[in-house]
Amino acid sequence: MDLPVELVEGLERACAGVPERQLAASVERLISRYRDPRPAASPILGSAADVTAYAAYRMPATWAAVRHALGQFQELAPDFRPRSFLDIGGGTGAALWAAAEAFPSLTGAVVLDQVDEALQLGRRIAVGAEPDVVRAAVWRRGVVTDLRTADRADLAAISYVLSELSPPDQASVVEQACVVADAVIVIEPGTPDGHRRILAARETLITAGMSLAAPCPHQDTCPLADTTDWCHFSARITRTSLHRRLKGAELGHEDEKFSYVIATRTPTPRAPGRILRHPLKRKGLVTLQVCTPTNAITPTLISKRQGETYRHARDVQWGDSWPPVAPGVS
Ligand SMILES: C[S@@+](CC[C@H](N)C(=O)[O-])C[C@H]1O[C@@H](n2cnc3c(N)ncnc32)[C@H](O)[C@@H]1O
Repeated sequence: MDLPVELVEGLERACAGVPERQLAASVERLISRYRDPRPAASPILGSAADVTAYAAYRMPATWAAVRHALGQFQELAPDFRPRSFLDIGGGTGAALWAAAEAFPSLTGAVVLDQVDEALQLGRRIAVGAEPDVVRAAVWRRGVVTDLRTADRADLAAISYVLSELSPPDQASVVEQACVVADAVIVIEPGTPDGHRRILAARETLITAGMSLAAPCPHQDTCPLADTTDWCHFSARITRTSLHRRLKGAELGHEDEKFSYVIATRTPTPRAPGRILRHPLKRKGLVTLQVCTPTNAITPTLISKRQGETYRHARDVQWGDSWPPVAPGVS
């Protein structure tokens, strides 16, 4: 995936004038802080330099993860055309950019965050955005643990926020999101801890009366819940030169691993099954690990003899529905 050009340009503008050594030092500090599983006692993005560093090194990856997850949802619910969007703990607005690209139907958006510098930077980056909804977004300071005065939205995102909150606050934010929005996406790093938080969010969404839309093909107990394995996916993003410099990275791309759940108030069709690993593609045979509606993870072998099914299997990716969902077909 490629970031929207205007987002790349916005990030370059945001970083111009900040010494790269300073940005790289903030990146190092943030990387080690985000590896710490403890909830944050004070905002992690503590300064303008931190916010700029976060935007430069994390925004591309969180954008890619949200964009990928929304794409999977869209395939299942092609008629879902949200008009309003609420980015809960939206920081510099990565999920806003992703939602705007996925849903051109969006006409209004609010980004809610506790860190003023993040909102200000997000607003500056958004100035050159092509989608009107990004340029015209409202950047609002507030805490995510109290959404009572938040604007109602057709779609809300809680993107890479839960790890900064205590478990009771995590549940409260997800619960409140269900009150203010018709569809909610929760997304976390694709680590065992991230998946545990997504599992808890999944329970909260179900208890709140929402219907799981993706990635799960059912809403019974997750078959990975009591295992050492964890459900996660991967989005490949082309690295900008700024990103390569800040991370001292050689590769021209980055694979962002993420866990997610999307739920809707009005049930939408679910995937018939979800591919949980990179498909193993050998000559004449494709092996898929598929999470199925009967609540089991099934190794699925598709051989060349299966003709059309095999041709589909050659094309699928980790995270896709299996069998493939034709747009508009439930
Ligand atoms: C890791 S950043 C993620 C930003 C953005 N959602 C993204 O995907 O790139 C977490 C964000 O959550 C915000 N946040 C954490 N706890 C919060 C709270 N209690 N109230 C408001 N914002 C909060 C932080 O300020 C930060 O901007």
